[in-house]
Amino acid sequence: MASSHVMKKPVPRMQPAAMMMFSTKYWSRRGLSLDSAMFDQQRHRGGQMSRRPSFCPINEKFDESREDSGKTAVVFSLKNEVGGLVKALKIFQEKRVNLNHIESRPSTRVSDEVDILADCSCSKAEFNELLQLLKDHVNVLSFNTPAHVWAEEAGEDDVPWFPMKISELDRCSQRVLMYGSELDADHPGFKDEVYRQRRKFFVEVAMNYKHGQPVPRIDYTPEEVRTWGVVFRELSKLYPTHACREHVKNLPLLVQHCGYREDNVPQLEDVSVFLRERSGFTVRPVAGYLSPRDFLAGLAFRVFNCTQYIRHSTDPLYTPEPDACHELLGHVPLLADPRFAQFSQEIGLASLGASDDDVQKLATCYFFTIEFGLCKQDQQLRAYGAGLLSSIGELRHALSDQACVKTFDPKTTCNQECLITTFQDVYFVSESFEDAKEKMRDFAKTIKRPFSVYYNPYTQSVDLLKDTRSIEAVVLDLRSDLTTVCDALAKMNTYMGI
Ligand SMILES: [Fe+2]
Repeated sequence: MASSHVMKKPVPRMQPAAMMMFSTKYWSRRGLSLDSAMFDQQRHRGGQMSRRPSFCPINEKFDESREDSGKTAVVFSLKNEVGGLVKALKIFQEKRVNLNHIESRPSTRVSDEVDILADCSCSKAEFNELLQLLKDHVNVLSFNTPAHVWAEEAGEDDVPWFPMKISELDRCSQRVLMYGSELDADHPGFKDEVYRQRRKFFVEVAMNYKHGQPVPRIDYTPEEVRTWGVVFRELSKLYPTHACREHVKNLPLLVQHCGYREDNVPQLEDVSVFLRERSGFTVRPVAGYLSPRDFLAGLAFRVFNCTQYIRHSTDPLYTPEPDACHELLGHVPLLADPRFAQFSQEIGLASLGASDDDVQKLATCYFFTIEFGLCKQDQQLRAYGAGLLSSIGELRHALSDQACVKTFDPKTTCNQECLITTFQDVYFVSESFEDAKEKMRDFAKTIKRPFSVYYNPYTQSVDLLKDTRSIEAVVLDLRSDLTTVCDALAKMNTYMGI
């Protein structure tokens, strides 16, 4: 291995450059002044208040790029005269849009008008057609887009959109900041037209992927397999003395169940099935860099966005970006560990609806833990960060006397500069994943959000805890779990004489 290779390292997904590319476009806006108690019922129906529609100003169009179909709503005003509502509803009938719910109230703006809220189910194309027709006949005041979240009454005007259920990650994962096929001039594959075409193929695979589908299997070329083989072989030599025990324990299982071999690039689908059984995590293909917000949102649902392409063959031990070698060897063995999975999810959950500033702090904590984290095991330092576990040079450096190591504390770690072109100035060590998780949990309490989030593993969705009703539902779940634990303890007492 040439010394120049030792100094190079894979770049983690969360580059500071990417952090600077936060989308400040908030999807969620407080609507027009229509949120009276009567109309609020629309948000609270079914005993849940977790999904509050965000109403768009009328000069906006329902974004065609958003979800294919779903529940949405429109608010329009009518002259308070006989037959006005019937005429308006005929438009829904003509466009074959199903009405789920309708409410009316006297207009607070114009004395002889009535405001109508119509909750309906239709595709986005149907909804846009409906809107055009409605505008010709009635005064459309606002309309909502499905799956958005309203701001809290308590003075929080803007809460960034975030996914509430796992299928909504399709939107996050496709908001790519920079496609994996857009290579910089100093990329080893920049002048290789065959490689560039191959990268476009991987972008297409990822952009066409939807939640619930199996991850497409890739027929890796002999050149790609050779490149993977070099990385797999060289890193495997270091793991017994440098990787944390969870990595050392799980890698042989991946060899056994997912085809981790020098002559075979593992398929993401096999990895995803394996992870689901071990820790509840799954992986999905991603076309390029995501914003930290969108990337962390995946973790909240135990979903990891993975690249599928292989680095350029001219330099197997160097890549200027995350690739499948980095994901499969650095991230996957740790994601198979339940405690690490929980720690990862904790960061993701903390990011949902957080401000850009707080998301950046969380992304920095992610960077210095999941990408470059160290832990103490048997009185020795070991690496658990994927950026280290996929870089021979930095893995050696981080555990050497040359490295500066500090105790992981999110309050200070979140301000540390993330370095991209050189080794990190500082690495952060945790006593255990449990310890890191507890610290992240405490740190998350300092993040200003008008609600708490609760992950529901049965529905793979998040519930917003912001009133007694929603909290009561979680308490009932917990009570059921506690009953099971008490029952188990009682049986141990009875049968084992404890
Ligand atoms: Fe990574």
